[in-house]
Order: sequence, then C-alpha cells, then structure tokens
Amino acid sequence: MEEYRSAPDAGAKEQNAEDEGAVHIDRRQFMRYGMTASTAVFAASLGAIGYASVLMPGGGGSAGDLAVKYWVPKGQEDSAWYATSHNQLMKVSELKAEASKSTTKMAGAAGVWNGLPVIVVHIPDSLNAGTAMSDNKPRTQLLQGVDATGKVVGHAADHEDDPAIPHDDIAVIFGRCPHLCCIPGWQLVSNNFTADNWTPGGSDSGGSKLFCICHSSRFDPTAIEMNQTSKGIKYLGIRRSGGPSPVGPALIPFDIEGDSIIGRTDYLEWYTYCD
Ligand code: FES
Repeated sequence: MEEYRSAPDAGAKEQNAEDEGAVHIDRRQFMRYGMTASTAVFAASLGAIGYASVLMPGGGGSAGDLAVKYWVPKGQEDSAWYATSHNQLMKVSELKAEASKSTTKMAGAAGVWNGLPVIVVHIPDSLNAGTAMSDNKPRTQLLQGVDATGKVVGHAADHEDDPAIPHDDIAVIFGRCPHLCCIPGWQLVSNNFTADNWTPGGSDSGGSKLFCICHSSRFDPTAIEMNQTSKGIKYLGIRRSGGPSPVGPALIPFDIEGDSIIGRTDYLEWYTYCD
C-alpha cells in the first residue's frame, strides 16, 4: 500500500490531522481553493449566472448540499444534452440514457459540487466487464501512475475499494486542469480527442478524452492512477494522455443515493493543486 491515505473512518480522519506535512483545510478554505488563480476562467466557463450562489450552496450543511448538479458551460446553452437542466440535480439515469445513444456508451456532463466544478462521466463497466480489451470497449482501468519526472507515484489497484475509484458506471472528476487550472470538459469541442471511440491503456490515441481548451491537454477518464501534486500530495486521479499538463486531475469520492451523485469531502487536500 502506498503512502496515500485510503478512505478513513472518523478516527482515522482525526489521526490524519496529526500527520506530519499533511495539508488540511476546512470548508471555508475549500471554497477559497475554488476561487484562486483561475477564478476568472471559472467564471468565464460557467457564465455569470449565479456564480456567488454556486460557491455557497444553500441548505445549511445537509447531505443534500453535496449532491452534484448540472452546470451548462457558457457557449453550450444550445448544444449540451443537459442544457435544460442547468443547476438541477444530476441524475445517473439521465447520464445512462445519454450514454445509450453513443457508440462507446459513454457520456459526460459538466457539473458543480460543493462550490467546485466537476466533470461526471458515464463509463459502461457493467456492460463491458468480461469483454476482451482488444474489442476497444470502454471500461475502467486501474493503472500505475508516475509524476512529471517519470517517478512512480503508486498503483490505483492498491486502492480499488476507495470511493473515488469509478463505480456504479460513474466517475466524478475535479474540473480543474493541473496545468494552469482551466476547466476541461467533456465534448466541449469536436476533435479527435472527443470522438466517439475508445482505446485501452490511457494513451493519447482514440477519443473519449476530457479536453482542456486552454492549451489542449487531454485526460483519459477511464485510466485511473495515483497522481501527485507539485507539493507532493498524492491523490487518485485520471491519466494525462497528452498536452502540457504535468498530471491528470483528481477523482472525487462519491456515493450513489437513489438517482443522485453525492460527493464526499473525506480528502479536501486533493483539490489544492490550483492554490
Ligand atoms: S490550463 Fe489546461 S492545458 Fe493549460
């Protein structure tokens, strides 16, 4: 098992607070991390509508506050498949229905969770489990991750029960690019990297990538690995397949409750790489 802290119980969480060198942030700081270097980019991407309210979800701290909602990126008001669901609860059934229309049975949507941008992707693991990898049918792959220098960070298979690992055919990805913190997206543009096909291995070939339009970084949402920030904080994330980003963005741990996706705040330090 790598140094990375897997899903803690309450006691373990308390112990983590004493770990030497660990970064710990409270809810207020968490919100701030969503508003630092790329606030302008975030605002531009989300549009001006209700930005402040997005950063301060209402409801007084109930579990419902942590449900993922759709967010229609600026410029996609007419094209996003979820355009009429802006700021509404994101539903697993709707992601599945959209995915059923595609060749890969994948679909994605921009969202907001706990005041932060996320990208949620449907990965058809339940459909493709047991099929040959050579069939080029998408599925979650647990891989070994390396840092920007090529040094091994860790293997995602050592954390296969972690709630951040895609499950229930869903992956929830922190929507900040580790390059300069723009917000990548699912099918924001039409190009080779967003084509409706898939290849295994987390390479830069094939489509179905997250794509950052700022400087063309690509990320494979099906290729799960241990990543590491420049500050040495390890996290489960998706693989950078190309472009200037040093690593891929973090995965957000979550539970499925009914038809909703409920993000978990177990490891807020994962989201500090844009600080
Ligand atoms: S900010 Fe995403 S590629 Fe530069």
